[in-house]
Amino acid sequence: MLGKIFKKKPLALRIGDTAPDFKAETTTGDISFHEWIGSSYAMIFSHPKDFTPVCSTELSRTAALKPEFDKRNCKIIGLSVDSVSEHTSWESDIADVCDNFKGAPINFPLIADKDRKIAEMYGMIHPAELENLTIRSVFIIGPDKKIKLMMTYPASTGRNFNEILRALDSIRLTADHKVATPVDWKNGDDCIIVPNLDDIQAKELFPDGWNTLKPYLRLVSDPTKQDNK
Ligand code: BEZ
Repeated sequence: MLGKIFKKKPLALRIGDTAPDFKAETTTGDISFHEWIGSSYAMIFSHPKDFTPVCSTELSRTAALKPEFDKRNCKIIGLSVDSVSEHTSWESDIADVCDNFKGAPINFPLIADKDRKIAEMYGMIHPAELENLTIRSVFIIGPDKKIKLMMTYPASTGRNFNEILRALDSIRLTADHKVATPVDWKNGDDCIIVPNLDDIQAKELFPDGWNTLKPYLRLVSDPTKQDNK
């Protein structure tokens, strides 16, 4: 083995890591990613290829949900290994068919990553699933530029962007309050007091009390309701 040269594999990104910064050409002009995010949240998501069926449905549906992302102060940007001119020409196809998928014409930028540099940086290339194309990756990035959520779907499975909005609600709530959100939680539902807060500390933050199901499972009403009182 001595003397053998190993090609260094890039380390996989993980939640909590700083999202790699990059410059890119997009359908709405050149961007510097971190600068583009600014003080917002951001969702960067990849699809395998322009002019493919599942991708057409996903992107048009995301466009229809853009007002929901806007409400949550979250910018959205797509990416694939296609060029800007391929993206823009595919966008007119999507506009033709979007009504069939509760969709809308594309209203957010698409990154042209022909040389796969950004896709490689973000681990969006999975050769065992799709050769040289990006699979369906989603990253939610915070205003602090840290990765808050990562999702990977196979090429054959269209994603549910309502689930991503739900997760974004949880991420935004738990960034500001010492709570976690239970299974199937949605905005306004009861939350869970984080386990590293003891009852004395919890009393300070949640003076209206909570429901102790187990010492480690304490349900509290949505803390934003108390903020709004
Ligand atoms: C699609 O979007 O339909 C698709 C793209 C690449 C591989 C499989 C399906």
